Amino acid sequence: MRIDILTLFPDMFASFLEGSLLGAARAAGLLDIRVTNIRDFAEGIHRQVDDRPFGGGPGMLLMPGPVVACVEQVQGFGEQAGGGDRPPAGHLVMLTPGGRRLTQEVVESLARQERIVLLCGRYEGFDNRVRETLQPDEISIGDYVLSGGEVAAMVIVDAVARLVPGVLGDEESARQDSFSGAERLVEGPQYTRPREFRGLRVPDVLLSGDHGRIAQWRHEQAVDATRRRSPAQPQRSLQ
Ligand code: 6GU
Repeated sequence: MRIDILTLFPDMFASFLEGSLLGAARAAGLLDIRVTNIRDFAEGIHRQVDDRPFGGGPGMLLMPGPVVACVEQVQGFGEQAGGGDRPPAGHLVMLTPGGRRLTQEVVESLARQERIVLLCGRYEGFDNRVRETLQPDEISIGDYVLSGGEVAAMVIVDAVARLVPGVLGDEESARQDSFSGAERLVEGPQYTRPREFRGLRVPDVLLSGDHGRIAQWRHEQAVDATRRRSPAQPQRSLQ
């Protein structure tokens, strides 16, 4: 799978991409991840990428010119010498707090793409003509505000990468994760050695060797954990 990350802060990704899981997956050729600096597409000696909002207001906005030029070149719509084999344009994702909420279902749909392009914003946001021109899939990782899309892009790369066949090594472990499977349950409690810790014992059923009973117990625990976590009437605000 090919993933492109477009950002004004490419250095933020260095250690993340070299880390154990992603570094190994890239070395094995399972993931082709590239980072492009949006500032390289800015013009003038100052390489300006942001400006004040028309009509007033706080902060700075990302200008449409450098952002659109960067996306178009990375996706292969820009001028290109030669021709030859190009990667597909890819599914364009724009990281913004107002986007649709990232869930495991969204992660699974992104993992089915041959290529995704992650566009990270900074400052107070994008000039709206970036949306109008590129019509990206806007995604948010939750209802809170980050200083930029970079951390959100890392969240997406991490969650998507572990669904790419071969990345985890053990395909079963991704299938058993929380939010996976038809019921989208969170995982219930798990135990390892020792059998007793500070008077707390591992549940007998897990030591029984009865795989049918163990599977049934785990499912019940997962249903319980899921109910406790998301009550029927979620409380959206405190009054
Ligand atoms: Cl994708 N970007 C920013 N700046 N803030 C966020 C977000 C993204 N998702 C949640 N908060």
